Amino acid sequence: MIPQSFSAYLLAWYDAGHRDLPWRRTRDPYCIWLSEIMLQQTRVEAVIPYYERFLQTCPDVAALAAADEQTYLKLWEGLGYYSRVRNLHKAAQVICDTYGGEIPADHAALLALPGIGDYTAGAIASIAFGIPEPAVDGNVLRVVARLTGDERPIDDSKVKRDMRAQVAAVLPHDRPGAFNQAMMELGATVCIPNGAPRCGDCPVAHLCRAFHEESWPRLPVRTPKKARAVVHRTVLLPRFDGLVGLRRRPESGLLARMWELPAFEEPLEPDALRARLDELGWQVDDLRSLRPAKHVFTHIEWHMTGYYVTLRAPADGLTWVTPGQLRGEYALPSAFRAFLQVIEEA
Ligand code: ADE
Repeated sequence: MIPQSFSAYLLAWYDAGHRDLPWRRTRDPYCIWLSEIMLQQTRVEAVIPYYERFLQTCPDVAALAAADEQTYLKLWEGLGYYSRVRNLHKAAQVICDTYGGEIPADHAALLALPGIGDYTAGAIASIAFGIPEPAVDGNVLRVVARLTGDERPIDDSKVKRDMRAQVAAVLPHDRPGAFNQAMMELGATVCIPNGAPRCGDCPVAHLCRAFHEESWPRLPVRTPKKARAVVHRTVLLPRFDGLVGLRRRPESGLLARMWELPAFEEPLEPDALRARLDELGWQVDDLRSLRPAKHVFTHIEWHMTGYYVTLRAPADGLTWVTPGQLRGEYALPSAFRAFLQVIEEA
């Protein structure tokens, strides 16, 4: 159980000073929603420039609902987990169709929107609308596990539900938004992951079991993850007359419908690659190896061998674009960043 006095100490600490973040200067539910979606699996410093640029192009729900796929994917380019922005767009359309463009001030209605789970619904409800709902993400689960010395795995749905109920029981109804943000702030700046928490700076250390029992190195507990599958890919950077050849990824699955550099799903040495490209009718002038690169997704790793392929004619089946168009108009996942850098350097 979280002690009842916890909230007062936490809020007093938060009120005495916290990070000035762009989404903390507004109560606009659209801005809060966008920031919370971007902040899932992404660090605050990485999010800030994306957040500001997104709002310039799509300043409100109606603008987002009207944006086309390539526009919103480009705005998300490099942030990863692209289903987040696809769901934002879908939800914006639902909000326009069902709620006249106004984000509903209701936890259950928020929860029913695409891409909005328990955490995000709680964050929007509390921060934008002052509705007393907890917002419990991985950072808050870590704080609760340490505070209460709870050695159950925090990725277990029963454990999550229980910890959420514990947070709800100490949530101050007059300031739910400030409380939830203070929990996030504590998790991000004091009760940090990966290494020693800064208990010397913690406003609730005197209430904390992990502090008293020195059990923080074990906490939080997680169930061991399965190893990620490794896929070896041979990635090509096709060049013809200053242009770059791209292709679209399949309609569904990983990075669905995003642009990418063409690739084979197997490692290929230069001679084997030449033979494969011949079969495809590519008129290869020159083939140069690029430095190998690795990209880690949630369930899969790409280990990539790269080749700079100079062609005598534009190969069929590719979309040929200028480096300027590539930068400005085409959204490519950051998995290809290392290879694309070669264009900038050339
Ligand atoms: N992480 C998730 N939501 C956040 C917020 N509103 N402010 C800072 N970090 C966060």
